[in-house]
Amino acid sequence: MRLGIVGYPLGHSLSPVMFRAALSHCGLDITYDPWETPPEGLGGFVEWARRPDSGVAGFNVTVPHKEAVAAAVDEASQEAERAGAVNTVVVRDGRLHGHNTDGIGFVLALKEEANFTFDGRRVLILGAGGAARGVVMALAAENPESVVIANRTPERAQRLAQDLRRRWRGVVDTASLGGEGLGRAAEKSDLIVQCSTVGMSHGPDPAGSLLRSEDIPGEALVYDLVYNPPETPLMKEARKAGARVLGGLSMLVYQGAEGFEAWTGEKAPVKVMFRAASDALDRARR
Ligand SMILES: NC(=O)c1ccc[n+]([C@@H]2O[C@H](COP(=O)([O-])OP(=O)(O)OC[C@H]3O[C@@H](n4cnc5c(N)ncnc54)[C@H](OP(=O)(O)O)[C@@H]3O)[C@@H](O)[C@H]2O)c1
Repeated sequence: MRLGIVGYPLGHSLSPVMFRAALSHCGLDITYDPWETPPEGLGGFVEWARRPDSGVAGFNVTVPHKEAVAAAVDEASQEAERAGAVNTVVVRDGRLHGHNTDGIGFVLALKEEANFTFDGRRVLILGAGGAARGVVMALAAENPESVVIANRTPERAQRLAQDLRRRWRGVVDTASLGGEGLGRAAEKSDLIVQCSTVGMSHGPDPAGSLLRSEDIPGEALVYDLVYNPPETPLMKEARKAGARVLGGLSMLVYQGAEGFEAWTGEKAPVKVMFRAASDALDRARR
C-alpha cells in the first residue's frame, strides 16, 4: 500500500518526512512518496492512481493542482465541495474521494498555536489559489466581521469572493495587489493570511513579500501558510511592524493529521509529526 503527494514543484514539501515519521511511529507498512507532476501530467497521474495495480490508497495534493483535482474526483466531502479545492484524496476500489483538510488545519493552527479567536475580526487574504479557497471557507464559519481577498490575477479573487458570498452573509471585498486598496485593507486588518506561493523556497518568487512593514498594523496577527523557509520575507516585514507572526508549519501538521486519520483509521501522532517536520526544516536551514 502506498501514499504520496502530487504537486509541482515539490522541493519545498515537508509532507514526505512528516508522514513517513507518522507511519513508522504507528508501525504501518505503508510508503509515502513525492510524485512531482507538472499540470500537463496530472490527468495521467490521476488515472494511474485509480488503478488497483498502482497500490495507491491515497494522496495529498499541493501547488498548483488543488482545484484541478477537485474537478477530477468521483466524490467530494462537504468541505471540498464548498472550497472547490481538494488537498487530500482517499482511493477506494478505483474511486477517488476528495477532502479539504486545509481549512480545518488552518483554523486549528490559529486556535491552538496563537490562541486566536475569529469572531468579529477583519481578515485580509493574500492569494486566491487552492489553499486560499480552503482557508476562506473555513474561517467564514468562525464568524469574522469581514474578509478582503487580494490576488495577482484579480478575476480569481473575484471568483473566490463570489463563491464566499454565496455561502456567507458577512462583508466580502477584493483588493488589487500593489494598489492603494491593498494598503488600506491591510491597515484595517486584525488578521492577515498569506496564501500565495510568494516567499516559498523553490517557488516563483522566494525573496518576495506582498506587503511592506509600513502597511502592516502592529496589533495584527500575520499568518503565512508558507512553512519553508520557516521565516518568510513577509514574516520579516511583519516582525519589523511589531505584529504577531506565525508560519505555516502548524497548519501543515494539523491538516496532515486529518488526512492521516482518513487514510489509516488511526489517531495521528501529532507530536511526532511536528517534531519530524520542524527537525527537517532546521536541517534545511543549516
Ligand atoms: N502550511 C500548510 O499546511 C499549507 C497548506 C496549503 C498550502 N500551503 C502553501 O500555500 C501556498 C499556495 O498554495 P496553493 O495550493 O494555493 O497554490 P496555487 O493554487 O497554485 O495558488 C498559487 C497562488 O499564489 C499566487 N502567486 C503565484 N506566484 C505569484 C507571484 N509571483 N506574485 C503574486 N502572487 C503569486 C497565485 O496568484 P495567481 O492566481 O495570480 O496565479 C495564487 O493566488 C504554497 O506556498 C503552499 O505550500 C501551505
